[in-house]
Amino acid sequence: VKIYADGADINDMMAAYQAGFVSGFTTNPSLMKKAGVTDYVAFAKEVLEKIPDLPISFEVFADDFETMEKEALKIHSFGKNVFVKIPIMNTRGESSIPLIKKLSSKGLSLNVTAILTIRQVEETVAALNPKVENIVSVFAGRIADTGTDPIPYMKKSVDICKENKGAMLLWASSRELFNVYEADRLGVDIITCTPAIIEKLKKVGKPLEQVSLDTVKTFNKDIQSLGYT
Ligand code: E4P
Repeated sequence: VKIYADGADINDMMAAYQAGFVSGFTTNPSLMKKAGVTDYVAFAKEVLEKIPDLPISFEVFADDFETMEKEALKIHSFGKNVFVKIPIMNTRGESSIPLIKKLSSKGLSLNVTAILTIRQVEETVAALNPKVENIVSVFAGRIADTGTDPIPYMKKSVDICKENKGAMLLWASSRELFNVYEADRLGVDIITCTPAIIEKLKKVGKPLEQVSLDTVKTFNKDIQSLGYT
C-alpha cells in the first residue's frame, strides 16, 4: 500500500516529503482550517512549488455544482501532480456524480471524497474516466466511528475499483497505525496517514517487551512530575 500524508501544515508536509517517506499528499478544508490556512490559492501554490513531483489533492470549496466546476478547472490548472477533490455530494445531499462525469471526461484527475457507502463507490467508479488516474476516497475511520466494521466495506471497494483501470482506492480517515497493515492486507492502493501515524511508522517493529518497559517508565516519569515520589 502506498502511504500519503494527510494534512495541511506545510512544515509537516515538507518533513514527510524530505524524509522520502510518503508517495503523495491529501488535504481538505477542515485540515486547512486546523493548520490556519487563510489564503487557499497561495497555500496550494506554495505547496506545489515545494512539492512538484508527488500527487497532491486539493478540494473544491463551493457548494453549488456550477462554481465547483469552475474551481475544479482552476485547481487542475495549478499543476500536473494535482488531483481535484470533489465531495460525493453537496450539503443539500445532491449527488456530485453528474459533475464528476463531466470533469472526468475532460481528463481531470479527480479524488472523489467523503465516500462512506458501497453504492457511492459503485457510482463513482462507473463515472470516472478509466484513461486517467483517479482516487476514490473511502472514509474507513468515519465508518468505524459509527460502530460499523470498515473492513468488509474496504474489501468490497477494492473489488469495485478493479473494474476501472484508473481508479485507485484510498483509505481515508486513518485512525491508528494498524490501519496501514489492514489496508495493505486488503489490497487497498493508498492509505493517507495523519502526522501522528507517520511518526509511529518510523518506529514499527519495536520489541513488545521494550514497549512494555517504555510504558512503565512513562507512568513513573509522570507520577514523579506530579510530586508523588
Ligand atoms: C483525506 O483525504 C481525508 O479528507 C481525511 O483522511 C479525512 O479524515 P477525517 O475523517 O479524520 O477527518
